[in-house]
Amino acid sequence: MDRYAVVGHPINHSLSPTIHRLFADETRQPMEYQALDLDPDLFEHQVAELIEAGFKGINVTVPFKEKAWAIADKLSPRAKDAGAVNTLIFQDDGAIAGDNTDGIGLTRDMITNHHILIKHRKILVLGAGGAVRGVLGPLLSQKPDLVTITNRTIEKADELIEQFSPKYKDNTELQSCSYENLGSEKFDLIINGTSAGLNNSVPPIPDELLGINSICYDMMYNIDELTAFVQWALDRGALRQFDGLGMLVEQAAEAFFIWRGIRPNTAQVLSSLRQN
Ligand code: ATR
Repeated sequence: MDRYAVVGHPINHSLSPTIHRLFADETRQPMEYQALDLDPDLFEHQVAELIEAGFKGINVTVPFKEKAWAIADKLSPRAKDAGAVNTLIFQDDGAIAGDNTDGIGLTRDMITNHHILIKHRKILVLGAGGAVRGVLGPLLSQKPDLVTITNRTIEKADELIEQFSPKYKDNTELQSCSYENLGSEKFDLIINGTSAGLNNSVPPIPDELLGINSICYDMMYNIDELTAFVQWALDRGALRQFDGLGMLVEQAAEAFFIWRGIRPNTAQVLSSLRQN
């Protein structure tokens, strides 16, 4: 049995073991996958112990994504862009490879599962923390016409614009804007990448930004009830609204593919998660 894990702190609510076990059953892969709570002060040491114990790879979640980036011997281009790693591959030659599948998870859920068009669209991104940095590259690769990043701390949005503009400015106008200055311009797609939902709140965006054709996507998910942002969109008559459970499953599927070379059926896993 090849061994894998998701590491975080805390980790007890992670759905990743359930998702990867369903993938493994479906694709008949001889592997086991567990959740491990690591000590924030001992991350590097504990990862070395996992390698020593024969683990083939790990998924990395809060608060270790930046630390995982730092310990990787080599990084994929999307991990470099993201400044964070959610998938580590422990290679046979002893090297640690780092990748980030969050952005591809988001765009695949949008495009493949929900048939959302990103190309030529006007997108508003709420938040400018690690979660947003992690997905901007794959999002911009879809060539939207405009991406506006808004954040309470506007400097963080400015930094993201500075980082991503050079590579993507030929196809996409990238700008930052404070919540107060958003005005009433309608967006085709509003993506919530803030952690406001953890407190059951919604960032202070004016209702006017939402047109009758606007789609809202919350990168957070809640399996038991609607997220605050999904509820906000529903109350204001958005065309469609989604939470990030599909993104979670798709980022897991991409990690599974990196490790095992086989793509699991995500639709089946998503519907079984929603049912349970
Ligand atoms: P993550 O890695 O999840 O992105 P983070 O780096 O702490 O975590 O970023 C959290 C994001 O949510 C930030 O953009 C934060 O805004 P600030 O940078 O101004 O702090 C945003 N955020 C958190 N709570 C929020 C709230 N109640 N309203 C608006 N934005 C919020």
